Amino acid sequence: MTTVDDAADTGPALRRFMRRWPGGVAVVTSAAGTEPVGCTVSAFLSVSLRPPLVLVSLAEGSRTLAAVERQGRFGVNVLAAAQSDLATRFAAPTCDRFSDVPYHWEHGVPVLEDTVAGAVCLVDRIVAAADHALVLGAVHHCRQDDTTRPVVFFAGSYYGLSP
Ligand SMILES: Cc1cc2nc3c(=O)[nH]c(=O)nc-3n(C[C@H](O)[C@H](O)[C@H](O)COP(=O)(O)O)c2cc1C
Repeated sequence: MTTVDDAADTGPALRRFMRRWPGGVAVVTSAAGTEPVGCTVSAFLSVSLRPPLVLVSLAEGSRTLAAVERQGRFGVNVLAAAQSDLATRFAAPTCDRFSDVPYHWEHGVPVLEDTVAGAVCLVDRIVAAADHALVLGAVHHCRQDDTTRPVVFFAGSYYGLSP
């Protein structure tokens, strides 16, 4: 086990620490005019059930964040184990992310097909935090497929979830 007590080293150490934290992967979607936009996120969590609030953390400068701020709504698409290619694609800097990706529109938000779960949210508030924006969303509606397993991101790689 590596320990770090020098504040100057904390950034890289925190990065290494977080690599040990396994988590699901989602694509946050929104729209810029009539164009679908979206990016891969792992910083997603449920905040409260009453009211139903979730949170995504998006980097300042994210095009998805700009669209979410403008449109006031966003989708959360929880990727299936078979969709790890979408996690890579929606994080890539330059490509037509939605090309050949099946999706449909719900309440002005692109919703990806064949995911484990999906939600459409209305922006409740956005809280600045260092170089990220914490976007709280009121869940307008959500659905899940109980038969599909998610992809898990751990130590920089994607895994299926085995029982
Ligand atoms: C597994 C994984 C998880 C990621 N999680 C986040 C995240 O939680 N928040 C974030 O802002 N970027 C995250 N990213 C990086 C964005 O997907 C990436 O910077 C993307 O190009 C941003 O696109 P945009 O500028 O079109 O919004 C993640 C990337 C990967 C591969």
